[in-house]
Amino acid sequence: MIITKNLDKIYKSGEQSLAIIKGVNLQINKGEFVAIMGPSGSGKSTLLHLLGGLDSPSNGELHIDGTAIPALSEKERAYFRRRKVGFIFQNYQLLPTMTVSENIAFTMNADGVPPRKQKHRISELIQSVSLEGKEHFFPSQLSGGQQQRVAIARALAMKPSLILADEPTGNLDRKMGKDILHLLSRLHHDAGLTIVMVTHDPYAAKFAERILFFKDGEIQSDHKLTEGEKDHVMEDVLAKLNA
Ligand SMILES: Nc1ncnc2c1ncn2[C@@H]1O[C@H](COP(=O)(O)OP(=O)(O)OP(=O)(O)O)[C@@H](O)[C@H]1O
Ligand SMILES: [Mg+2]
Repeated sequence: MIITKNLDKIYKSGEQSLAIIKGVNLQINKGEFVAIMGPSGSGKSTLLHLLGGLDSPSNGELHIDGTAIPALSEKERAYFRRRKVGFIFQNYQLLPTMTVSENIAFTMNADGVPPRKQKHRISELIQSVSLEGKEHFFPSQLSGGQQQRVAIARALAMKPSLILADEPTGNLDRKMGKDILHLLSRLHHDAGLTIVMVTHDPYAAKFAERILFFKDGEIQSDHKLTEGEKDHVMEDVLAKLNA
């Protein structure tokens, strides 16, 4: 699903150049649920943006579902993003002047999906995130967890094969966070979605099947979270995080 080879992201400001992602080699298979943890400023969000084609790497290779992302033009990249990738952010990023249905339809509109098809898809999505009856509400009339469910429905609208989530439960209390994590898990199991989720929360990370520890722009460890070893691996990651 995702293959990177010596992936770099370097930011230049004036004379200075700052390496934020340093030679990342990563393979994520189709249908995997991967968590990324690591200190603030280590480059997790930057990596996620690269993986989703929101940003372009400075060096190295990046293949998503067989497509070499760095070779795409800006326009091709935008098209690829809409079709293949669903983004979920910590702060939901809904459009405040649009209703739940309109927010969900946003990418479908951008992609020219005909209104009748949109309507059908919206009602499927509303159902899958349990927001029946809220179709005409505005984001400000919803709880945080409900807003995040709208954002998830929007991310799923074009049936992407890859979901990239940047601290999707970061603004939610434990109960609402738990609902969102169960929803992501269900999508992962039922629809075989590949999920890459950045999180600071060990509780959230445990929903994944694999955990990467990221520091100073590099992958420092990469472990499977199998049932028997989950607690042990998490302890190790948390020790690194607190070191
Ligand atoms: N456009 C940019 N120009 C210059 N530096 C940037 C830019 N975007 C990010 N950075 C720098 O890259 C580093 C990594 O940022 P990033 O947002 O990826 O960290 P993070 O691991 O997601 O942190 P957090 O856990 O706090 O969200 C930071 O030091 C940041 O200042
Ligand atoms: Mg971040």
